[in-house]
Amino acid sequence: MGALDGRIALVTGASRGIGRAIAERLARDGALVAVHYAANTEAAEKTVSGIVEAGGRAFPVQAEMGGPGDVDTLFTRLRSALAEHAGRVEVDILVNNAGEQTAAGLPPEEITPDRFDRMFAVNVKAPLFTTRRALEMMPDGGRIIGISSGLTRFAVPEQLLYSMTKGALEQIALHYARHLAPRGITVNNVAPGITDNGSPVFSVPEAVEQMSQLSAFGRVGRPEEIAGVVAFLAGPDGGWTTGAFIDARGAPGLGWGPHRGAGRGPAAPAPTRPPPPTEGLTMADRPVHLVVITASVREGRFGPTVARWFLERLRADPGLTADPVDLLDVDLPDRLPATDMRDRPPEADATAARLAAADGFVVVTPEYNHSFPASLKHFIDWFMAEWQAKPVGLVSYGGLSGGLRAVEALRTVFAEVHAVTVRETVSFHQARERFGADGRPLEPDGCEQAAKLLLDQLTWWALALREAKEHRPYRA
Ligand SMILES: Cc1cc2nc3c(=O)[nH]c(=O)nc-3n(C[C@H](O)[C@H](O)[C@H](O)COP(=O)(O)O)c2cc1C
Repeated sequence: MGALDGRIALVTGASRGIGRAIAERLARDGALVAVHYAANTEAAEKTVSGIVEAGGRAFPVQAEMGGPGDVDTLFTRLRSALAEHAGRVEVDILVNNAGEQTAAGLPPEEITPDRFDRMFAVNVKAPLFTTRRALEMMPDGGRIIGISSGLTRFAVPEQLLYSMTKGALEQIALHYARHLAPRGITVNNVAPGITDNGSPVFSVPEAVEQMSQLSAFGRVGRPEEIAGVVAFLAGPDGGWTTGAFIDARGAPGLGWGPHRGAGRGPAAPAPTRPPPPTEGLTMADRPVHLVVITASVREGRFGPTVARWFLERLRADPGLTADPVDLLDVDLPDRLPATDMRDRPPEADATAARLAAADGFVVVTPEYNHSFPASLKHFIDWFMAEWQAKPVGLVSYGGLSGGLRAVEALRTVFAEVHAVTVRETVSFHQARERFGADGRPLEPDGCEQAAKLLLDQLTWWALALREAKEHRPYRA
């Protein structure tokens, strides 16, 4: 029995990104979810079908927000859909998630009255009147949750207008919370920080790396993590929290970049990244977190093209998360430290923490002189416990051999550090000729299939080993 069994939720802007994750989570907890969307019917249907396939209940409701009659349209359609799908025409949970943002930002000097009106219409006026209308259908004990933004607490001049709208949205919670407390209805805000919502910038490893540095956890957030906070507020345990601003930004205020330990001198344990939050998730369904290593550091290298393509495949799977590690950016000393790692420098500690957080690895490697590059060997040798009892998938490329001799050489090396290489590989011979100018394979069918097989195996091993280690810690 789910915490939200029998509840009806309306999630605005639920076709993609954070809204989709919220809809999926509330449905998984038992709610019947109205998946509101503005224009992208295909994406909304994907959200709904994903929920239904997972055993949940949901239906789409289309309404373009920000124009005349927007909220009327939404509620007319919602009421008739509820009459069809539910035994009652009520809303127990409203999540005001829909909003617009100028992705590239808008310098303060370029804010025009028209832009101001449009963004306030979608991000403020629409949720305010959606709230009012939803309240007419909301039984006592209901829940209203606004998705604000970390930008109301963090200065980015190019996001001034957007942040102003989110600041206004937050007022709905503060004042309505008091107004509605006598009815037991709670009203709260959740403020995500930088969260991988599927927008193109999150497939650029360098950009993700940079954004990751803003969080004390050293990575960007995941939509499911925001959905977890919303699920708490929407559920029975959230009844004593109202008028609150819940900070779900990944702790940027705690300092920049991952914690680097006590530095040199006394032996300090390598900092381990906090594992991904597990609230509400079983061991089996917590996303599998993979570090994807780009091995080549050569001038004019081709490696990043292959790595980018593979990361795109990986990120298409909602059960997986990725942390790209490009060896060109990892500045490890040429000389290995003493074996007890007592003198390990901060750069190695930070990298060790990223590797330690992984459930498994993907290595994207070329073939040099019948083996893999020295940069990769040096990197592997720098660490030990971080590799142990984890699976490794190998993606290779090269000249005629497609990098397969690099793959075979890596199998013996990874066995030595107690890692398990999976059988399936992805291999590109004459790699440069196989990718188009857009960085994608010219003949995608075979390699897409191979990538899927590799990821399926890697996921199986990662989950199996994760569960096994829970019961019986690995001893080398
Ligand atoms: C030093 C060196 C040795 C190479 N040896 C091989 C080889 O043994 N087998 C092969 O198939 N390709 C070989 N190649 C071709 C590379 O695999 C190919 O150039 C690949 O694009 C290199 O990856 P990168 O551009 O990401 O560094 C070699 C390339 C270099 C630079």
